[in-house]
Amino acid sequence: MRILSGIQPSGTIHIGNYFGMIKKMVESQNDGELFAFIASYHALTSVKDKEFLEKNIFEAAVNFLALGMDPEKSTFWVQHDVKEVLELYWLLSNHTSMGLLERAHSYKDKTAKGFQASHGLFSYPVLMAADILLFDSNIVPVGKDQIQHVEMTRDIATSFNHIYGDLLVLPESKVDEDVATVPGTDGAKMSKSYGNTIDMFGTPKTIKKQVMGIVTDSRELDEPKEWENCNIYTLCKLFMNENELTDLRKRYATPGEGYGHFKMTLLDKINAHFEPFAQKREHFLNNPKEVKEILAFGASKARKIAAAKMEIIRDAVGLN
Ligand code: TYM
Repeated sequence: MRILSGIQPSGTIHIGNYFGMIKKMVESQNDGELFAFIASYHALTSVKDKEFLEKNIFEAAVNFLALGMDPEKSTFWVQHDVKEVLELYWLLSNHTSMGLLERAHSYKDKTAKGFQASHGLFSYPVLMAADILLFDSNIVPVGKDQIQHVEMTRDIATSFNHIYGDLLVLPESKVDEDVATVPGTDGAKMSKSYGNTIDMFGTPKTIKKQVMGIVTDSRELDEPKEWENCNIYTLCKLFMNENELTDLRKRYATPGEGYGHFKMTLLDKINAHFEPFAQKREHFLNNPKEVKEILAFGASKARKIAAAKMEIIRDAVGLN
């Protein structure tokens, strides 16, 4: 079974990415063949700054490796190191209707938020379909916001297969309901492009600032608080077991503590959760050459598979 997913290096990776995708990916290394990549071409739809992009690609790689990506067991690369994906993107474009792309939520959301309505942003799902189909992926672990893209991939593959035979494997998305949409500090979906993120490995000062910025209602210290719709509680759920959550709910119900106290509890939890990975992360941050070599090794493994698949596809469409 092939498991594949990617992440855009369009900003600092946050705890929404971690719980929505990275954690599941790392854990799945024992369940099947894992393919994980840094979606550098996709990031160009929003990032137009060379240094910023290079820094984010490097940091995304470092974070994945620190969090347990095993480059021997799995295939881990940067998207633009396997250029076959662009060729497949073009072939698939000819089997993708305008109507399908016009229905994409992500395009509508991003343009509504002021992103330039470029052709790259519009055809983003076709490139994502190419990523998935090039590697015969069976399972695609993602957060809820990417489900539609995986559905579109199936539609595109079905149209293609209808003409050329059963060449492309139809993938399925895998979404964990508990972490399908991790909220940001303002309660909306946590997103690199919305400025509402909590970092995994920021400086203590940055993470504290982000946590302290979580939006709550304005109940005073001497009033009981409601945990049901509280952003702090929702984020605490990611890090706490049932007993800890029961204690926390009691604290909400008892006057005397304010949201500032609950935020400090959350902050401690976040720091404790990511602390064990910090040393490995430091190692990779200080050894960029080693990171480059790991990514080059991953790209060479991915390229072999991609090249073989493209041979078959080229032949089927009449391009050999
Ligand atoms: P990206 O970079 O936006 O996010 C990476 C992964 O993190 C998940 N995620 C979240 N999960 C829960 N709560 C959140 N607040 C949250 N924010 C992000 C995303 O669902 C995603 O799984 N288009 C993809 C990258 C991509 C890709 C692919 C993924 C390119 N090609 C092929 C899978 C297969 C994206 O923008 O993810």
